Amino acid sequence: MKAAVLNQIPGELVVEDVTVDKPKGNEVLIQTLHAGLCHSDLHFMEGHWSTKLPAVMGHESAGIVQAVGPDVTYCKPGDRVITCLSLFCGHCDMCLTGHPNVCRNNRMLDRAKDDTPRLTNAAGEGLAQFARLGGFAEEMLIHENAIVKVREEMPLDKASLIGCGVTTGVGAVFRTAKIEPGSTVVIIGCGGIGLSALQGARIAGAGRIFAVDVTSDKLDLAMKLGATDAINGSEVDVVAAIKEATGGMMADYAFECIGLKQTAEQAWAVTGLRGTAVIVGMMPFDAKVEIPGYEIFMQEKTLKGSMMGSNVFRRDMPQYVNMYLDGRLNLDDMVSRHIHLDQINEGYEAMQRREGTRTVINFD
Ligand SMILES: NC(=O)c1ccc[n+]([C@@H]2O[C@H](COP(=O)([O-])OP(=O)(O)OC[C@H]3O[C@@H](n4cnc5c(N)ncnc54)[C@H](O)[C@@H]3O)[C@@H](O)[C@H]2O)c1
Ligand SMILES: [Zn+2]
Ligand SMILES: [Zn+2]
Repeated sequence: MKAAVLNQIPGELVVEDVTVDKPKGNEVLIQTLHAGLCHSDLHFMEGHWSTKLPAVMGHESAGIVQAVGPDVTYCKPGDRVITCLSLFCGHCDMCLTGHPNVCRNNRMLDRAKDDTPRLTNAAGEGLAQFARLGGFAEEMLIHENAIVKVREEMPLDKASLIGCGVTTGVGAVFRTAKIEPGSTVVIIGCGGIGLSALQGARIAGAGRIFAVDVTSDKLDLAMKLGATDAINGSEVDVVAAIKEATGGMMADYAFECIGLKQTAEQAWAVTGLRGTAVIVGMMPFDAKVEIPGYEIFMQEKTLKGSMMGSNVFRRDMPQYVNMYLDGRLNLDDMVSRHIHLDQINEGYEAMQRREGTRTVINFD
């Protein structure tokens, strides 16, 4: 099968022939039908983060179960599934207290180091699976705790987006921040993650939703998807603009959906009394955020992180599927382009140029 492999950091993806082992134990073999291009992979390709190499990249996929290992109980061949990088062991303190998105033991779900690798390249070398998934591949051999079954009616290209971007963005609003109806919300960065958070805010009944980006086409789409105000950060001072528009009240919640120190600090600055700034973007590994200390206690403000939308993904993803199918969550406008696997670097180059919202790979 073909897969997009990262061999060096920084580096581009190389589409290679990869051999997949048979499922053992709790493993499932998935035929990947679609995979979305999320910015997180790009941080590794650009050298802001490191991971074990060589690795099959990708972590936002949907497909069909082809085969299951002897111990699998959750699914059977033919089931339509979304994958999620929030693998859960089911018995650590985080899993048991409702936070499986930060499971302590998910490395226990990998194959043992002395076992045969799940994937091998043409040179016979074992390949890592980025985020325990490796979704930019025609087939994925993964643990059953990395998948959720979805309804027959759900188109799998849109479903793939739920695998990361939608769950991260909508979940940051519903699960991490738990915003109240009527809240004033600021979304900083209107890519796949930010527009998902924006839609989450609309569905949750936010009163006013400010969309902030530096490209006007993203802001146009943000207005279509429910923003009440658009602010172009390349043209105006974002903090001053929100201060003026709110009469000095500032926002109740801000969601940083880019991954920069500067915009993380901006998310803090645009929230007012008792406000909450949620960091969703993946900052460079060694970045530090600086905020005025006195505001934390005198204004009772909160800085929160959100990992994969604080998901319990087997509960959340079917809910997001329902919201798409009943027309409340617009995923059709979020897919800006379909490509084939061999165009993957082109897709990431477009992301670097800030073009389009979500590019989705079709594996057919
Ligand atoms: N916390 C998590 O669990 C999680 C999960 C997935 C992705 N992420 C991260 O979320 C971030 C967003 O991912 P994405 O796939 O939506 O990326 P994207 O590239 O599609 O979107 C980023 C958006 O930010 C805008 N932007 C860039 N610089 C800006 C600035 N200075 N001011 C305002 N807008 C600016 C771009 O125009 C673009 O619309 C990435 O850092 C990604 O790694 C985090
Ligand atoms: Zn992602
Ligand atoms: Zn766990």
